Amino acid sequence: MKHELKLVSFIGQKGGVGKSSLARLLSVGAARKGHKVLLADFDLDQLTCLEWNATRLRRSVEPEIDVRAFKSLKKLRKTEGNFDLIVADTRGLADELTKDVAEESSVVFLPTGTSADDLRPTLALAQRLAKHGAEGKITIVLSKTGRSERQITGALEKIETQGFPVLAETWGLRDGLQSEFDSGGVGLESSNRYLREIAEQMERAMMARVFNSGRA
Ligand SMILES: Nc1ncnc2c1ncn2[C@@H]1O[C@H](COP(=O)(O)OP(=O)(O)OP(=O)(O)O)[C@@H](O)[C@H]1O
Ligand SMILES: [Mg+2]
Repeated sequence: MKHELKLVSFIGQKGGVGKSSLARLLSVGAARKGHKVLLADFDLDQLTCLEWNATRLRRSVEPEIDVRAFKSLKKLRKTEGNFDLIVADTRGLADELTKDVAEESSVVFLPTGTSADDLRPTLALAQRLAKHGAEGKITIVLSKTGRSERQITGALEKIETQGFPVLAETWGLRDGLQSEFDSGGVGLESSNRYLREIAEQMERAMMARVFNSGRA
């Protein structure tokens, strides 16, 4: 079946919430399953994904991921034919370009912490994006979560009250994961079974959302 551009984006109002880490995890997960993946880095100030990929290449971490920097959707559209999944990592600030990327996406992930400080701007952004035609594509992801089940459950409830879909899996904050990222990994390559499981579960949850969504 021929399909349109399958663009999945990671967007946020706040910096440092896990957009780049989750974009990389989804890209590697999809590439491991044989998909032709492009990881599009729209964060030209930091180039987090591009830098990470340089480390990945230096260390020969498999599979190789095609990571490129983009400053507009126009350029991205020119290459779209070569890929069956394009994952867009955006800046830690929802500017016009970010809104355009969201509009073209079939799924928009909004990673957020569980605190009210994080949830408030995330839900406000979700509402703004929904007004701009992203309704039905938005999925919130609890990211860099601590070990308090109560805080996680509380955050899930707040999000559901506002009517936005949220992944049941959470992206737990772990020192070991940070070390994996620093050496070009995403968590899936970890020799630590526990870390690997955190990454595998999140990857599965994102893949299910991307490939089972009616719009994708
Ligand atoms: N699950 C995790 N466990 C430990 N550290 C994490 C985890 N997820 C992300 N980090 C670390 O947290 C920091 C921010 O993560 P990341 O770069 O993915 O966020 P971001 O939303 O892309 O940030 P920015 O807004 O600056 O682009 C990074 O140092 C990253 O290595
Ligand atoms: Mg980033």
